[in-house]
Amino acid sequence: MASYNLKINGKNVNVVADTDTPLLWVLRDELNLVGTKFGCGIGQCGACTVHIDGVATRSCLLPASRLEDSEITTIEGLANDKMHPVQEAWKELDVPQCGYCQAGQIMTATSFLKQNPNPDNESIRNAMHGNLCRCASYNRIEKAVALAAKKMS
Ligand code: FES
Ligand code: FES
Repeated sequence: MASYNLKINGKNVNVVADTDTPLLWVLRDELNLVGTKFGCGIGQCGACTVHIDGVATRSCLLPASRLEDSEITTIEGLANDKMHPVQEAWKELDVPQCGYCQAGQIMTATSFLKQNPNPDNESIRNAMHGNLCRCASYNRIEKAVALAAKKMS
């Protein structure tokens, strides 16, 4: 066990956990930030995606103890008192079905749009390709990313 400090959603938090405990477990089990989901646990599905220094990153394999110097953002910290434009687009187009994968999808989309504010459909598809949705909401996700880009332009 080790004690270390993390900066999550703008707040400093102290964590006591094994040094190899992945960030996903720290978020969900220690800090009750359960918006980030466990899907595969092996870096393959994207359900656990958060931002590390603004970049979409899978949290299920990444030891939290290595992140003391990083800014971590989860779906809970994506926007403050109102929705992020990506969340607005998701809502407008009724994207989720069961919803399980959607926090990860939104975290990937927001990071992508920050780096690519005017994406074409192909680049949206490529960017979202690694986030799996067992309900197959892929068409709505692509449309929502395009709509969010318009909202943010
Ligand atoms: S739970 Fe992390 S990629 Fe699937
Ligand atoms: S909405 Fe059900 S897994 Fe994506």
